[in-house]
Amino acid sequence: MDASAVQLERSEQRVIEPPVEMLPTEFSDWQRLLESRVGIVINDRRRYFLQSHLTARMREVGIRDYAAYYRYVTQGVDGAIEWTSLLNHLTVQFTQFFRHTPSFEVMESYLSERLKTSPGKVWSLWSVGCSSGEEAYSMAITASEVLRHAGLPETYGVFGTDISSEALNRARLGLYMAQKVQSVEASLRKRYFQDHADGRLSIVPALRSRLCCARLNMLELAKAPLSGMDVIFCQNVLIYFRRWLRKDILNQLVNKLTPGGLLVIGVGEMSNWTHPELVPLGDERVLAFTRRVA
Ligand SMILES: C[S@@+](CC[C@H](N)C(=O)[O-])C[C@H]1O[C@@H](n2cnc3c(N)ncnc32)[C@H](O)[C@@H]1O
Repeated sequence: MDASAVQLERSEQRVIEPPVEMLPTEFSDWQRLLESRVGIVINDRRRYFLQSHLTARMREVGIRDYAAYYRYVTQGVDGAIEWTSLLNHLTVQFTQFFRHTPSFEVMESYLSERLKTSPGKVWSLWSVGCSSGEEAYSMAITASEVLRHAGLPETYGVFGTDISSEALNRARLGLYMAQKVQSVEASLRKRYFQDHADGRLSIVPALRSRLCCARLNMLELAKAPLSGMDVIFCQNVLIYFRRWLRKDILNQLVNKLTPGGLLVIGVGEMSNWTHPELVPLGDERVLAFTRRVA
């Protein structure tokens, strides 16, 4: 079992109270709803995860049965609002700073190279499924470091998008438990984080101001007004989707890359995938591609 699967399993074990057992028809209604709206596949192995998180939310809103709650979230404005809240419960938001080190090393050498070939370019970076911001800030730190070493001003912006409004609020806040920041190298921690009296650490305002967060469903990428991206990270999200949908999402992301741009996917999240406009990076530690320059 790889690290993401272990983390997924652990997060799914965070169950507060025993859930009510679901009828088979209720389970398939909820499966269909989640897959059609957000792409997330809930197979039989994750039935308990679905039941426990639905039950927790149903208790909060005072609804006791799955069918009634289903009707509630699928109808009217109140349902749409409730759906947004429910997604905060049903999405796995585990993340870490510099979660996959080789991916950030690749990004660093890619940007250093780009400085030589396209000097003066303002970089657009994108963390797709950014959760509470750790990946997006790690991208920002990587870009800041490359520019700092070159003695250049910080000319870049990072977009962080996610389906979970709660995760995005945490990303915007940029305030983390000390334990979360432990994976950040000491010199970077000193430069890009500040201590709080309660022991937590926050991202320094200059770095935080580089990040722009927005709620975006990956099933609606075609509609997203984002294009000309220099670097896109899409890690630990595709694993929840069916293979045809992963391909579809990746094809959309290619359209969002600038010619010469870099796409970094989670290792093992998409096997045997090629795209006519992409060149694999040829570093077996990562799953990364650059877009061909016409
Ligand atoms: C496990 S986290 C990964 C965070 C980060 N990319 C990383 O690698 O550490 C997965 C994130 O994807 C988001 N997500 C799941 N389905 C999504 C969808 N259809 N559209 C946008 N974000 C989605 C979840 O809300 C969650 O924050």
